[in-house]
Amino acid sequence: MSKHTALPLNSDVLGFAEIISPRGIEIESSDEIQQNLFQTEKMRRLSTPWSVCLTRAEILSDCKVGKGIIVDPACGSGSQLFAYCKELNRPGLGIELDADSAVLSAANGYLISQTLDSDWANNSLVLVGDGNASVSALKEMELTGRSVAVLHVDPARPQDAQKHALNEMQPSINELLDNWADNLVIGSQGPAIIIDLSPRLLPEQQTEVEQILLQHWPKSPMTWEWVSTGRGRIDRLTIWFGSAAVIGFPARMLRLLPDSSVVSIAGTPVIAEKNTVQIPKEGDWLTIVDSALLSSGLQRQWIREALPPEASYSWVRVSGRRPMLLSSMPLMIDKSVVRAFISSTGEVMSRLKVEPTIENISPIIVSCNYAYLSRLTLRCKINPSIQPQLQSKLDVGLKEHSRGKDGFLVDVETSNEIAWFICREP
Ligand SMILES: C[S@@+](CC[C@H](N)C(=O)[O-])C[C@H]1O[C@@H](n2cnc3c(N)ncnc32)[C@H](O)[C@@H]1O
Repeated sequence: MSKHTALPLNSDVLGFAEIISPRGIEIESSDEIQQNLFQTEKMRRLSTPWSVCLTRAEILSDCKVGKGIIVDPACGSGSQLFAYCKELNRPGLGIELDADSAVLSAANGYLISQTLDSDWANNSLVLVGDGNASVSALKEMELTGRSVAVLHVDPARPQDAQKHALNEMQPSINELLDNWADNLVIGSQGPAIIIDLSPRLLPEQQTEVEQILLQHWPKSPMTWEWVSTGRGRIDRLTIWFGSAAVIGFPARMLRLLPDSSVVSIAGTPVIAEKNTVQIPKEGDWLTIVDSALLSSGLQRQWIREALPPEASYSWVRVSGRRPMLLSSMPLMIDKSVVRAFISSTGEVMSRLKVEPTIENISPIIVSCNYAYLSRLTLRCKINPSIQPQLQSKLDVGLKEHSRGKDGFLVDVETSNEIAWFICREP
């Protein structure tokens, strides 16, 4: 007896999907497809943003994956699975334990297939059931043996826990790989496997995931991918393994921008080292960088894009919410990949000779006037009880110079003290 209920991707499924969740409701996005995909409130929290789905599908289409179908054994809304199918023009098999989600996923697959003249959807299915039951699932597609070119999974994980064990993910990676291993097409780099993981996974848990994969395919390469939507947060961590990995690029960072476009940097990650010896001087540039960049370890690759080769630089802060780069030249902010990781950047105008306190407001304003600033935003560690008052006194004090530029105040920890610098934005 079949362990799954099969849902083909056709217009019949749209009616059922409309009953479960009216399409497009309250989905705020400039992207037409995302607006029209079916999602419940819960799915909306869990699902990968459509522009990230598409970027990842483009990355996968550049990989040398063997012949075969694409499988997502915990497909949720189906958006990632069917973005792959659309980009690679291949049939997909989605499996989903939750029947309502499975219906919405099939409807989404049908909608995504309508955007292009292609026939992959005719040979695709969504199954209601357990993603571990590989043999019976493939039977629904009339397939056996090594027929899966790409296995992608984004397991459910405990929502509120700060930390969780690998075996709390559903379905479990170990079990899935055991069940699907014999059905994967093995290319020159091994099978193509993509696993979404919690961004909160500890380094030792990441090593555990690597070991699980390498136990099956010891010589295959891997690429770790971080996705950030800004605010210093890593929203998604993914391992691309075997034929889905890019040799020579063990790490990749995707940054989703507010206009839904995505920029990416890739390479070998290194840990950024802090330099407390070099003190900023007038004419240098200080840049507060998105902390997600340093979490990925790809700051060197970004700096290659951001600074001309003749510029010198060092990290004056590498931890916390506001890592800071000191450079001898301005950053090339006309490039979107550079802007994507900058919170504030400015030329050092002066070192503040006094501590930023309410009592010292007058000398601070004098320094700002000297730098032609019409605004100074406090971007330094400051007692939260005085911050709003000091900021509003600065706003009032600088209002007269409305034609000046924007600036910010940062603190730099030198080897023996804290120093404050007024920076002017370009
Ligand atoms: C994080 S969500 C997937 C989100 C999906 N990538 C998307 O973009 O919508 C994980 C899904 O796995 C499903 N799931 C959990 N255990 C499963 C199992 N054993 N078999 C199939 N689906 C499972 C859950 O119902 C949930 O919808």
